[in-house]
Formats: sequence, structure tokens, C-alpha cells
Amino acid sequence: MQRLHGKTALVIGAGSVAAGWSNGKAAAVQYAREGARVICFDISAEAAGETARLIRAEGFESIAIVGDAAKGEDVRRAIDACLSAYGRIDILHNNVGIVVNGGVVDLPEEEWDRVFNINLKSCYLAMKHAIPKMIEGGGGAIGNVSSISSIRFLGTPYASYYTSKAAMNHLTRVTAAEFARHQIRVNAILPGLMDTPMAVLSAMNNHGVEADAIAEAWQRKSERIPMGWMGDAWDLAKAAVFLASDDARFITGVSLVVDGGLTLRS
Ligand SMILES: NC(=O)c1ccc[n+]([C@@H]2O[C@H](COP(=O)([O-])OP(=O)(O)OC[C@H]3O[C@@H](n4cnc5c(N)ncnc54)[C@H](O)[C@@H]3O)[C@@H](O)[C@H]2O)c1
Repeated sequence: MQRLHGKTALVIGAGSVAAGWSNGKAAAVQYAREGARVICFDISAEAAGETARLIRAEGFESIAIVGDAAKGEDVRRAIDACLSAYGRIDILHNNVGIVVNGGVVDLPEEEWDRVFNINLKSCYLAMKHAIPKMIEGGGGAIGNVSSISSIRFLGTPYASYYTSKAAMNHLTRVTAAEFARHQIRVNAILPGLMDTPMAVLSAMNNHGVEADAIAEAWQRKSERIPMGWMGDAWDLAKAAVFLASDDARFITGVSLVVDGGLTLRS
């Protein structure tokens, strides 16, 4: 079933910080499998190129574009490239996001600014430049990748991460309200504890978990989740495809939690 046949999707942060299936990479591939032509935008040429190559290897259309999602000029260039390659933009997927350790007392000011620039300003910039083109094209769907940490304290002091994602949720709602009459839907996706390369790096860098102790740490995480297992990048990707497809044509401004029930008990 190709629910996105004929559509063009721009994925911001379409690569992966390490080998394996990241959220952005899986979403880009899943959009393509459902029929969309996909523009893979990433700050890393290698990461963007790898995702675009994977998509083409499956017989679908994709191009890679390199740029910084926190810079307006780079984002505008990506939208222009999307229009000149495929003539339109129907789907925007804002996946870029970083985690930095620190509560308000410990976190250096420049790290606060860096996290907000990458996690929140990138989302504002992409919507700012994409929405006028979507309006010209008759509508569109935007998926903003947030996190359950936007609605819960998860036990680690990531003040800038939690709050930048909480702001993203509300930016999603107000933008959805403003542009609904233009048939532009804007939704947030809130993943929980997901088994991705980024989560492995974060466990090692922020929590001092050794590489050979990841399986044990993942077991402990799984025990916290009512369903008893961690999700992966495909769980997020498939939720994003649903929200981008016409199956979700009357859904806008929601924060869709994808967490195996974790927020139900915490
Ligand atoms: N456990 C999880 O994996 C988890 C849980 C909840 C939420 N999330 C959210 O998922 C998103 C990321 O997931 P992922 O698995 O794709 O992570 P990832 O870090 O593997 O991939 C993100 C990609 O974004 C790119 N990127 C980073 N900064 C950029 C910038 N300024 N401009 C352009 N590209 C940039 C990186 O190069 C990388 O390829 C984040 O928004 C994160 O908050 C992840």
C-alpha cells in the first residue's frame, strides 16, 4: 500500500549519528516505501548521502542536501532544491534534536542556546520556509519529532532538552491552528524509550554505560515500559507516515505519544 504516492517529503535530520537505524533515517526510508520522493537534509554529507542511497537502492527517488537546520539560509536552500527537483513539497518532517546533560544550575549558557537553536529554531525555520510553498501547492502535512520528555521528567536533568521539546509541542499546536484553513496539518510525535544509535551514544556519554553493558541497561529500561520492550525507529517512522497520509486528513495539532505505555504510569 502506497499511502504517499505522488507526494514529496523533506526530512530534516535524515541521517544517523552512528551506524544503525536512527529515527530520521527510518522515517525517510518509510516515506519512500509509501510512495513519496524524499529529500534527505542533514548537516553531515555522509549521513544524508547514505540515507538517499539506501532509498534509491530500494528503487525509489531521493536526493541528499547538506546544510545546518539552525540556519535560515540553509533551510531556504533546501526548500528551493526540493521545489526545483520535484516541483512541490507536501510533507515536512522535523527530526533534528540533540540532548545535552544538565539542569538549570549546571548547564552552561552557551549549551542552552545551542540546544534551543538545534531543537526548536530548526523547527521554526523549516516551517517558516516550507509553509508558504505548501499553501501554493494546496496543503501539506508537517511532523515534528518531539519526545515524551516534553511532558515528563525522566530522571535525568536535561533541562534544555525537555523544555525545547515542550516548546515544540506548543509551536506545533499554534501553527496547526493558524494554517488549518490552508489544509496544512501540523502534528508532533512523542517517542518514548527507543532503541536507536542516538540512545546508545547518550547512554554511554551521559550515563557512563560501557558498550558491553548496553544490553543490561536496555533490559532495565524495558522493565519500566508497560509493554515490556523498547520501541525502535520504525515505530516512530510508521506513526509519522500515518500522520502524513490522508488516513489522518482530519487530525491536526496533536501530540501523538509512541511509548509502549510509559507515560501512563509515570
Ligand atoms: N531514543 C531516541 O532515539 C529518541 C527518543 C525520543 C525522542 N527522540 C528524538 O528523535 C530525534 C532524533 O532521532 P535520531 O534517531 O534520528 O537521531 P540521530 O542523532 O541519529 O540523527 C539525527 C540526524 O540529525 C543530524 N543533525 C544534527 N544537527 C543537525 C543540524 N543542525 N542540521 C542538520 N542536521 C542535523 C545529525 O547529523 C543526524 O544525522 C530527535 O529529535 C530526538 O529528540 C529520540
